[in-house]
Amino acid sequence: MAFHGWKRLLFLSRQKAFARAWRSGKGSPSLGWKRCCHGEAGTSVTPEMRAFLEENTEVTSSGNLTPEIQLRLLTPRCRFWQEKLDSWPYGDPFWAIYWPGGQALSRYILDNPWIVNGKSVLDLGSGCGATAIAAVMSGASQVLANDIDPIAGMAMILNCELNHLNPFPITIRNMINSEVGDWDLIVLGDMFYDEQLADGLHQWLRKCMRTRPTQVLIGDPGRHEFLRHRIHRHLHKVVEYSLPEAARQENNGLTSSIVWSYQPSCSLESS
Ligand SMILES: C[S@@+](CC[C@H](N)C(=O)[O-])C[C@H]1O[C@@H](n2cnc3c(N)ncnc32)[C@H](O)[C@@H]1O
Repeated sequence: MAFHGWKRLLFLSRQKAFARAWRSGKGSPSLGWKRCCHGEAGTSVTPEMRAFLEENTEVTSSGNLTPEIQLRLLTPRCRFWQEKLDSWPYGDPFWAIYWPGGQALSRYILDNPWIVNGKSVLDLGSGCGATAIAAVMSGASQVLANDIDPIAGMAMILNCELNHLNPFPITIRNMINSEVGDWDLIVLGDMFYDEQLADGLHQWLRKCMRTRPTQVLIGDPGRHEFLRHRIHRHLHKVVEYSLPEAARQENNGLTSSIVWSYQPSCSLESS
């Protein structure tokens, strides 16, 4: 299937690989690239991987909600956009797409820098790293990007370079299976696409908030799995952005993306 067609089906048919990876706690099924990222074994992208990423992505800042951030993404001009998915040598390249949930979060942070200014921020499921980049640009005192896909870690390093930023720490550990976060703010863009992953995230977020006061912001364009998940009862709408035409086309006609604040009330906390 050409990448374009595959992308349309991503949330319907291919999400299981990531769900499996999350459940097993083994991270991405893609490769043994585990020891690549800052915070794990120093900041590094192998020359071969850099060449591969540069050759197979396009630098772009258009077609999304944050034109001030440059990203290496898969675009219609990239070879793998049209080629068979079978010839893509790694795991599903979620990091090569700037998802609408992440777009909304990044836009909100860039427009309201006080949200992150002087604060410690965790971008969980950071993908291309745009939201973490927005947090750095807006004055966060500490940013950690977390994605279980090691290739995402490398892509983020390249994306930091593009935006003239020193790479922030990146970890590919499965944090939601292990430690409780110690963050002023946790941001999650487009992370509620699988029921079991959503359950795990919900549980973990509750644990984090019980440990210390933490603000949690979730970006989502209204995906079915998110809307029907019980976390939805604890969300307050912060802002809704209309998506640019290109993002609408890439996302099966979704027209907007919303930033939600997670605020579990005591009475509902057990649900
Ligand atoms: C749909 S993408 C969203 C990426 C980014 N937040 C955005 O909005 O553009 C979901 C990302 O979550 C990552 N992911 C899946 N399960 C994860 C987990 N348990 N911990 C950290 N990252 C995870 C995937 O590798 C993928 O990059």
